[in-house]
Amino acid sequence: MKILVTGAAGFIGAHLVQKLIYLNHKVLSVDSLQTIGGIPYINPKSKFIKGNILDERTIQKIRKWKPEIIYHIAAQSGGESAYDDPKNDYLSNGYGTYLLCLLAKEIKVKKFIYTSSVAVYGSNPNNKIYENTEINPDSIYGVSKYAGEMFIRQILKKTNIQTLIFRVFNTYGPGENLNFLKKGMVSIYCSYLWRNKPILVKGSLKRFRNYQYIDDIINILVLSLKNKNLKKNEIINLSTAKAITVKNLLRIILKINNKKSHKILETKGTPGDSFGYDASNKYLKSKFKNYKFISLEKGLKLYFNWINTVPKVKNLKKYHPFQFKK
Ligand SMILES: NC(=O)c1ccc[n+]([C@@H]2O[C@H](COP(=O)([O-])OP(=O)(O)OC[C@H]3O[C@@H](n4cnc5c(N)ncnc54)[C@H](O)[C@@H]3O)[C@@H](O)[C@H]2O)c1
Repeated sequence: MKILVTGAAGFIGAHLVQKLIYLNHKVLSVDSLQTIGGIPYINPKSKFIKGNILDERTIQKIRKWKPEIIYHIAAQSGGESAYDDPKNDYLSNGYGTYLLCLLAKEIKVKKFIYTSSVAVYGSNPNNKIYENTEINPDSIYGVSKYAGEMFIRQILKKTNIQTLIFRVFNTYGPGENLNFLKKGMVSIYCSYLWRNKPILVKGSLKRFRNYQYIDDIINILVLSLKNKNLKKNEIINLSTAKAITVKNLLRIILKINNKKSHKILETKGTPGDSFGYDASNKYLKSKFKNYKFISLEKGLKLYFNWINTVPKVKNLKKYHPFQFKK
């Protein structure tokens, strides 16, 4: 199939393109290369367009290539970074999604798959989060990701295009930029260990999250291509449904690195950082044959297999996990 991946050079996008190519799909990678979460990686086996989805010239090139499927992964992806530049956050995540929906409708793609975020729910420390839990974002990023969802519903619902919105919870794995300390809780804490520095925790050790290993996110995204159980319009929590406190996360990170202790410094939280969220994944499991997620301990071991090969240099471009495999 002819598949467009926006945000293809970012953390999740690069893993997705790699898998789609492995499965013999024809892939168009689009990315502005303003990547913040991942080490930028452009898959040489995909056709690459360096461009911003807000730019009509990029949209025109996609129109010409005419994808059958769109994975819309591109976003300003950092909760904290959204406060540094709210305009860019809203434009990329909200208006950018609007523009891609218009294009999807015009060229009549079969599926439009969107990586939304847990951030649309906002903090919800007392209850499991279901897909019908009230939307109540408590961050700029949560608002812009939800704007993206609303444009998908508004523009594509009455078309024949299948729309799949995955609300992705905290994802970690090889390829994250260990030098970037404003996105990805797991990556940030592992980065301190990698640099042999005390681990700085911004906010309470009692905060909790669901943590997913990158391969699980990619498996679900790719299985969605042929999954006959999915309805025309779906919203699905993509989460392990296992609540882990920051304290416990750090304990497991230290344990798998055989460290009995390590200095942990606590400081005040960042704006828009929710206290806790813990999803139900019952709906996901009902649609994806009871999919089994990798345990946090196993995922972190796989993650450190890569981290331990990465030298402590400023530019990590050469050390993306797929560079090693070339
Ligand atoms: N990583 C997570 O834990 C997580 C959790 C929930 C949701 N998500 C969502 O998953 C998606 C991917 O996240 P990621 O962790 O890979 O982030 P990332 O920052 O590594 O990748 C995003 C990519 O999108 C590109 N991009 C941003 N704005 C663009 C624009 N206007 N035009 C073209 N390209 C643009 C960036 O250059 C970057 O390469 C995002 O939509 C994010 O909101 C991620």
